[in-house]
Amino acid sequence: MSADGSPPEAHPDRLRWNAKYAGGFVPSFVPHPLAVRALAMNLPDGPVADLACGASGSALLAAGRGREVTAVDISEVALGMLADGLIAWEAFTAEATRTRSDLSPDWCLAPGEPASLLPADFAVLDEQDLPNLRRQMVARRQ
Ligand SMILES: C[S@@+](CC[C@H](N)C(=O)[O-])C[C@H]1O[C@@H](n2cnc3c(N)ncnc32)[C@H](O)[C@@H]1O
Repeated sequence: MSADGSPPEAHPDRLRWNAKYAGGFVPSFVPHPLAVRALAMNLPDGPVADLACGASGSALLAAGRGREVTAVDISEVALGMLADGLIAWEAFTAEATRTRSDLSPDWCLAPGEPASLLPADFAVLDEQDLPNLRRQMVARRQ
């Protein structure tokens, strides 16, 4: 343990798991079934701790249910994936205003958007234009 309480950089668990998460690991953010079961129970309000959380969706599920979550893991790579990890976006493209007079251009995506609006540390995982003149994009923080 170092003076600030964090594990040393060369801790074998840290090295092993950082290598795993940094080596092309794509998080699904699917919560662990046990977390799904536990959070479906009639629990009292209160904070939740997810220990050895990895990049799992359990912490996100609890946060989405309005709980304060403390997620702990030895791998800062995993924690980086978990922090604001994923954005999924669907909106009309500007082309849709040609056929829909009720649609304000301000609500529509210009060419290249929304990918061009992402912060530099986000990577687009998937993007597609749908037949109904909407565009979908999924991106995640690197
Ligand atoms: C099998 S993964 C489980 C991840 C997550 N709980 C899930 O259900 O998807 C094990 C996790 O334990 C973490 N871990 C391993 N050794 C650790 C240690 N000594 N202290 C804290 N976390 C550790 C790893 O970084 C990894 O994210």
